[in-house]
Amino acid sequence: MVVASRLDFDDLPWFAARPRAAAAWLDIYRLELESFAGRLRELAALLAASERDGIRRLRSPDDRRRTTIARGAALHILGAYLRVPAEAVPLRRDRRGRPYLAVNGGAPCLHVSTARAGAVSALAVSGAGPVGIDVETVADRRFSERVVPVMLSTPERAALSDVARRQRPNWLARTWVRKEALLKADGSGLSLDPATIDAAPVACSASAEEPAFAWEAARVPGWSLREMAMAEPWVGAVAVCGAPPVLTTTELVADR
Ligand SMILES: CC(C)(COP(=O)(O)OP(=O)(O)OC[C@H]1O[C@@H](n2cnc3c(N)ncnc32)[C@H](O)[C@@H]1OP(=O)(O)O)[C@@H](O)C(=O)NCCC(=O)NCCS
Repeated sequence: MVVASRLDFDDLPWFAARPRAAAAWLDIYRLELESFAGRLRELAALLAASERDGIRRLRSPDDRRRTTIARGAALHILGAYLRVPAEAVPLRRDRRGRPYLAVNGGAPCLHVSTARAGAVSALAVSGAGPVGIDVETVADRRFSERVVPVMLSTPERAALSDVARRQRPNWLARTWVRKEALLKADGSGLSLDPATIDAAPVACSASAEEPAFAWEAARVPGWSLREMAMAEPWVGAVAVCGAPPVLTTTELVADR
């Protein structure tokens, strides 16, 4: 089941605590980061000093502002799930960069994944097991033929030859987000060669125009993978360990 809705930032506590029928659930939040610019100071104040220092070193002002908003908002969202103030959320990163919640003496009660592309960010909170999410813009110059040797497996290269030339950036971007979602869910990141994973969209590899927004349970053994319905030019995908969970997708907005 997919439920797409809009939720105000300040209504997160009741939303996160709502009763759930299924034990295996996955909540995805999408944020238009510039709409939170009025809350920049408030969100920056949630970050650790070392994190603020790291962000200060980013070259582009847009990047600094958006990274601050995305990371502060992530703490705010996770605070609602853990029922603690956002500044007390024990969000850490492991040695490969994977975010995790250091609660219950290390046994994760919730799994987390984040992604950002330009002015959009996504956060996945999973009660079902390890999760990975990715969003990208098709216009990203990475999605050109140059990426083929580094990114695509041999079967994927064969599939690409069936894709119309004008559809290739879209197909490559979709293939990439699917792989990166799996790499993040696994925690490997780019320490695992993306060309070793077969994750290209199969159902419509020839047209690439109508991605199937449904779980593909058997696509990669042991994982459930799906693309996310996003407005152009964004594409996104999410992967979870095991069977498909009940998914809720929410557009988070800041009304004040
Ligand atoms: C995962 C990765 C591909 C994402 O890169 P990206 O496309 O530039 O950025 P995205 O916006 O999609 O995702 C960024 C988020 O991915 C998450 N992330 C980073 N590394 C991750 C990993 N290994 N596993 C899962 N998630 C990871 C973080 O939450 C990060 O957000 P943050 O910067 O606010 O903490 C990249 O960061 C990576 O490969 N990192 C691992 C590097 C590595 O393996 N180093 C080896 C050290 S031993």
